[in-house]
Amino acid sequence: MVKTLLKSVKQYKTVSILTPVVMIGEAAMEIAIPFLMQYLLGAIRQMQPGVFNMDILWYGLAMLACAAFALFCGIMGGRLASKASAGFAANLRYDMYDNIQTYSFANIDNFSTASLITRITTDVSNVQLAYQMCIRMLVRAPVLFIMATVMTFIISPTMGGIFIVAAVILGIIVAVIMVKVAKPFRIMFRKYDDLNRVVQEDLTAIRVVKSYVREEHEMEKMRKAVGDVYDYAVKAEKLLNWLTPVVQGVIYVAMILLLLVGGNAIIAGNTGLEIENLTALLQYMTQILTAVMLVAMCLQYISLSKGSMDRIAEVLEEKTTLPKPKAPVFEVKDGSIDFEDVSMSYLQKADVTVLDNINLHIKSGETIGIIGATGSGKSSLVSLIPRLYDAAAGTVKVGGVDVKDYNLDTLRSEVAMVLQKNVLFSGTVIENLRWGDENATQEEIEEACRQACADEFIQQLPGGYNYDLGQGGVNVSGGQKQRLCIARALLRKPKIIIFDDSTSAVDTKTDAMIRQALRTHAPEVTKIIIAQRVASVEDADRIIVLDEGKIVGLGTHEELLAGNEIYQEVYLSQVKGKGEEEDGGENNG
Ligand SMILES: Nc1ncnc2c1ncn2[C@@H]1O[C@H](COP(=O)(O)OP(=O)(O)OP(=O)(O)O)[C@@H](O)[C@H]1O
Ligand SMILES: [Mg+2]
Repeated sequence: MVKTLLKSVKQYKTVSILTPVVMIGEAAMEIAIPFLMQYLLGAIRQMQPGVFNMDILWYGLAMLACAAFALFCGIMGGRLASKASAGFAANLRYDMYDNIQTYSFANIDNFSTASLITRITTDVSNVQLAYQMCIRMLVRAPVLFIMATVMTFIISPTMGGIFIVAAVILGIIVAVIMVKVAKPFRIMFRKYDDLNRVVQEDLTAIRVVKSYVREEHEMEKMRKAVGDVYDYAVKAEKLLNWLTPVVQGVIYVAMILLLLVGGNAIIAGNTGLEIENLTALLQYMTQILTAVMLVAMCLQYISLSKGSMDRIAEVLEEKTTLPKPKAPVFEVKDGSIDFEDVSMSYLQKADVTVLDNINLHIKSGETIGIIGATGSGKSSLVSLIPRLYDAAAGTVKVGGVDVKDYNLDTLRSEVAMVLQKNVLFSGTVIENLRWGDENATQEEIEEACRQACADEFIQQLPGGYNYDLGQGGVNVSGGQKQRLCIARALLRKPKIIIFDDSTSAVDTKTDAMIRQALRTHAPEVTKIIIAQRVASVEDADRIIVLDEGKIVGLGTHEELLAGNEIYQEVYLSQVKGKGEEEDGGENNG
């Protein structure tokens, strides 16, 4: 897992390695300063009245140089660490996003959108922090510990012994605190996930929340999510607040011990320990104990960010469920479609068969209508054609070639699909339309809009084609949005075009005009129209009636009306409903 993540360090490898090196430089200077200080103090102590000892100047200057170098290393280390960790985080985010782009719809179903967002943002930030801490401290602190201990032993082996005991005691206390803190922190991170999910769901669906007057209910959910994060944050912090006083306490106790033992030794005068050695020992002791705490904190950061690391690694390691063909085909011959014994189920509900043994042959240029109750598998059926999903069994062919043998981009640029849940992006009308074809000329764009019956309303928008649609296309009505999506699909000039309930929000007259335009302007294109209204499909060459994942009827409007019970039912319910409701209404299949 760590390996997967570290692959993203890339160009920041040098700075990442340089950081601990520079930090060791800083540590060495921190060790050198108290050492020099001993000599300086010794020289001062032995100074004769009236005679200036030049050694004082030299030691002073040496200490100054060490301090300057330590400062330089500290600043450099900080800078390098920020650069390395920020760069690492940027690479991680980019690499995750890059891999997400290769995901199939099935992969995306596997992670929720909210969770993907949390992983790319919060989780990467956690890892970034841990990484920065580690490259700064995880080498520096142990090195400082070892060097300070060695220096202590050189000055006084007895004192060295005391320090080691103090360090072990401190280590145990800190470890206990860290272990206790880890649990509430871990739960807090999980609660963050819940919070993110609530925020994401509610904000994307804020209109639904409002129209169902669910604000109070959703606020309650939010209150709980925020409250949980608060509770665990407080719990964790409460424990963590013990850390500094405890460390300080141990340092002071050790200091008192040191002064007691050291002071006695100096007074006894037979141990060779002088007052200047004691000052150095005091500093080394503080360094040793602080190093213990820093190492503990680094380990804490690592363990806390482990959850984040796991979740980032999952995104990076996820392999697309659409394997690439060995010898991809780069040309779609025509718009014919063949389903041969096709069955399908979704990964989450592998035991539920959504499509059951479908056999279907569509000629290039044919217009096919698909009718069926909600959940009968209409969207699932057509999603196999541009290979948004793979069939569990059987073969789907486009232009006589198995869809799995195509280069995916080739296939999808020849099979345009106006999705049931379609979206537009922030930007102008023309920017959105160019998703269909980046290089389309103004005439081509206008022509596509005419066919989709979108030209009229676009011209009435302030600014026309340069009208800003706002986030997710909020500035146009549902029916206008659908027409823009159709125009966008037409611009691709595909061999197959699929409309998944794409005119549900368009009035019947415009719906008919769009179909008429397609018939005259794109006669060679295979057209598949999923609709709830019989009126939208009745002039198709053939109509498929789907029921619970099976084809239960296939024929022209007249044939089905004469011999298919479900179709008759749907038709009658809609004809009856027509008098009461202009828009046809929904079928009850
Ligand atoms: N991404 C998915 N993951 C799991 N199950 C799914 C997914 N999409 C659809 N299903 C299930 O597959 C079945 C068929 O759904 P499908 O979307 O194909 O129906 P549909 O005929 O297009 O319905 P509608 O008219 O409401 O659009 C349903 O039972 C649905 O719950
Ligand atoms: Mg559907």
